[in-house]
Amino acid sequence: MYKVTVIGSGNWGSVAAKLIASNTIKLPSFHDEVRMWVFEEKLPSGEKLTDVINKTNENVKYLPGVKLGKNVVADPDLVNAVKDANMLVFVTPHQFMEGICKRLAGKIRADAEGISLIKGMEVKKEGPSMISTLITKQLGINCSVLMGANIANEIAMEKFSEATVGYNQNKSAADRWVQLFCTPYFNVTSVEDVEGVELCGTLKNVVAIAAGFVDGLEMGNNTKAAIMRIGLKEMMAFSKMWFPSVKDSTFFESCGVADLITTCMGGRNRKVADAYARNGGKRSFEELEAEMLQGQKLQGVLTAQEVHEVLSDRGWLHIFPLFSAVHAISIGHLPPSAIVKISEEKPRHVQLLSSL
Ligand SMILES: NC(=O)c1ccc[n+]([C@@H]2O[C@H](COP(=O)([O-])OP(=O)(O)OC[C@H]3O[C@@H](n4cnc5c(N)ncnc54)[C@H](O)[C@@H]3O)[C@@H](O)[C@H]2O)c1
Repeated sequence: MYKVTVIGSGNWGSVAAKLIASNTIKLPSFHDEVRMWVFEEKLPSGEKLTDVINKTNENVKYLPGVKLGKNVVADPDLVNAVKDANMLVFVTPHQFMEGICKRLAGKIRADAEGISLIKGMEVKKEGPSMISTLITKQLGINCSVLMGANIANEIAMEKFSEATVGYNQNKSAADRWVQLFCTPYFNVTSVEDVEGVELCGTLKNVVAIAAGFVDGLEMGNNTKAAIMRIGLKEMMAFSKMWFPSVKDSTFFESCGVADLITTCMGGRNRKVADAYARNGGKRSFEELEAEMLQGQKLQGVLTAQEVHEVLSDRGWLHIFPLFSAVHAISIGHLPPSAIVKISEEKPRHVQLLSSL
């Protein structure tokens, strides 16, 4: 019997719990109950978020108006939430994962399998290190990833979309994850390329910040398409430089070009970057994030900084003019309009990328 715990309960975490719970109740090899670890918060009413979720079956803060399924049980105790589970779904903002893994080390079942829905990475001296790697190293478990064109609120409304599971050798674990997530409106396929899938999900948030600048400056659709195309090339080049096993075909799955398109059209990174450009860079991302996202976290600015760190360490910034410009703009070193000045570097940029 498989027992699932979802570690995280933000916007996407709550939707993931809903999707999973709709399947565990139907599939005989899965235990009906899905535990969801909640980072406890007090609501303005004075009630605890966990109590309200368990009473109303709704995450009133991060996914209001959507029933999660009666078999979802919110639990504020991380160790208690995972103790019986052999399928662990990690879905928190990436900056919290190091601390969560430390708290979980030695506390999970030896036969547990993990999957990460987290977009982001850690920066190490030797280069980028993915969140699935952090989970595998710190918890000693196999970890797949699930990424895709998945704006959580749309999936919560059961609008059709697709996702990609990336796995590393363990095909039977990947098949189980596909079975757990697939619904008539959420079509999941798998590819043997864990790093490729995870890097797509992580790096597209940086491109979405650039797309938001273009929108905020009202530069139109052609400019935005150009930014997305350059961004996709930089995503591919960056991924292959550090992980030569990454496959070109992965970029044509839902986790690749489809996620890039949806995030550049509608995601929260685009939205806040749009506001940043409209304010001429005078209001910081932290301020806009707090004002516009009600507790949800922005990943693209942090990822741009992480990308900048690994690139500058290697002296490779000039090969990635778009990634470099996003970071420089987001920290106020360049104005938002600099996002289109990268075309001045085009000949060198194209030459270097095409030689990879
Ligand atoms: N929302 C989406 O549409 C979407 C889609 C695909 C992937 N993702 C990815 O899923 C991951 C989780 O995002 P989300 O949308 O579920 O979260 P969110 O941004 O909606 O919410 C933030 C979450 O972080 C929690 N939190 C705050 N402080 C914390 C702390 N110190 N320690 C631990 N947790 C803390 C909050 O309780 C909340 O659950 C991210 O990596 C994101 O990029 C999100």
